[in-house]
Amino acid sequence: MGEGTFRRFPDGFVWGAATASYQIEGAWDEDGRGPSVWDTFAHTPGKICDGSTGDVAADHYHRYHEDVDIMAGIGLNAYRFSIAWPRVFPTGTDEVNEAGLAFYDRLVDALLEKNITPYPTLFHWDLPQALQNSGGWANRDICSQFADYASTVAERLSDRVSHWITHNEPAVHSLLGHFMGIHAPGLTDPMATFQTIHHLLLSHGLAAQAIRAAAKTLPEVGITLSLAPVHPAEDRDADREAAQRFDGVFNRMFLDPVFKARYPEDIGELLEVIMPKPEPGDMETIATPLGFLGVNYYTRHVMKHDPDVFPLQASEVRPEGPEYSGMWEIYPPGMYELLMRLDADYAPGKILITENGIPVPDGKDFDGRVRDYRRIRYVRDNLEQTHRAIEEDVPVEGYFHWSMTDNFEWAFGYTMRFGMVYVDYATQERTVKESGRWYAQVIRDNGLDAGVCGPPFFPC
Ligand code: FCB
Repeated sequence: MGEGTFRRFPDGFVWGAATASYQIEGAWDEDGRGPSVWDTFAHTPGKICDGSTGDVAADHYHRYHEDVDIMAGIGLNAYRFSIAWPRVFPTGTDEVNEAGLAFYDRLVDALLEKNITPYPTLFHWDLPQALQNSGGWANRDICSQFADYASTVAERLSDRVSHWITHNEPAVHSLLGHFMGIHAPGLTDPMATFQTIHHLLLSHGLAAQAIRAAAKTLPEVGITLSLAPVHPAEDRDADREAAQRFDGVFNRMFLDPVFKARYPEDIGELLEVIMPKPEPGDMETIATPLGFLGVNYYTRHVMKHDPDVFPLQASEVRPEGPEYSGMWEIYPPGMYELLMRLDADYAPGKILITENGIPVPDGKDFDGRVRDYRRIRYVRDNLEQTHRAIEEDVPVEGYFHWSMTDNFEWAFGYTMRFGMVYVDYATQERTVKESGRWYAQVIRDNGLDAGVCGPPFFPC
């Protein structure tokens, strides 16, 4: 270990990995599962860049046991997965599908047998298609329907599950799915987008209350937000204001309601007509106290003023020079900057990094190993930045790598590999990558050597 470069994490630190139902489960029409908006979207030609779907994905529905064994081999002490609403309620409401609930029962039991703490997320974007047909997230009725679903799942699993995440990244689901049309349900409707934001947030508050009411043991309920520092492209007022507007819609639009029971004023003035119109009591429900804030961090956003872009007049630029992954700029200092800002502006009592990772075009080497050193370097650097924030008393208590296995990366299909475990989609064979072996060592040491990320010949 390099002298002075070892970063030890607090005792009891949660070391996990994350996945989502539609991205790994497959078995899209088995055992009574209803169709979701992602089935419809992926089955529509032209929506997914390689023409693929999540019909089979990593076949986790059938191979969950093997996957849990792999997690145990890596030494994970926690696993974040999502529950597919259409497995539990094929049409979103009314009839419970026993076989769907039973799958999550088996998964939770398999995890606990290996001392891996389950962290289920209730909504990671696979809305039952039947609910979309009646307006989806733009229809206020969905809030109580989501709370009913949350309550059903909590009643079933809360004897063994005590950490719950209501929503995954409401910003991405609303903006990419309802405004940009590049995720399911594929809408490009500003009005529906902002109603969706409000209903996702309101349903979070209602679900948190429903879980607390139904749970058999005292639950910790959080929400996972996709968050990032936003920087101006150039040091000039127009770009700074563009960055501020983007920050408002991407970060503060979600953080302010959850922590301060209000929408950001500047965004309210800017987007007046399309802003949500909360009913009395809504904002208090949204701000129901959190057990933890889940933070998904991948990259920063660099914005410039752009009068042609409605309604924000801001567009994203790729700054010259820095490294890129297949999807985003690699910018680990943003982790530290973000955590410091969250602590200063919102003071969440507890933070879990619920996603952080990088797509690397991994392949098997001559000897069958997958040498994903770029991933190791990315995770190492992000963990080092996380550690800096912890040293400054930001209450980060866990880290979940995105992702456990390679999987269906939404509109990118199978072209992006995020796993610490390689999946050969032709055979469904799993291979733990070098990053998985490295992560196992981090977990054993409860820390990492910030000076090392691979064999000596690899320039870190
Ligand atoms: C996040 C999603 C997750 C995965 C990663 C790469 O926005 O929550 O499902 O696709 O990006």
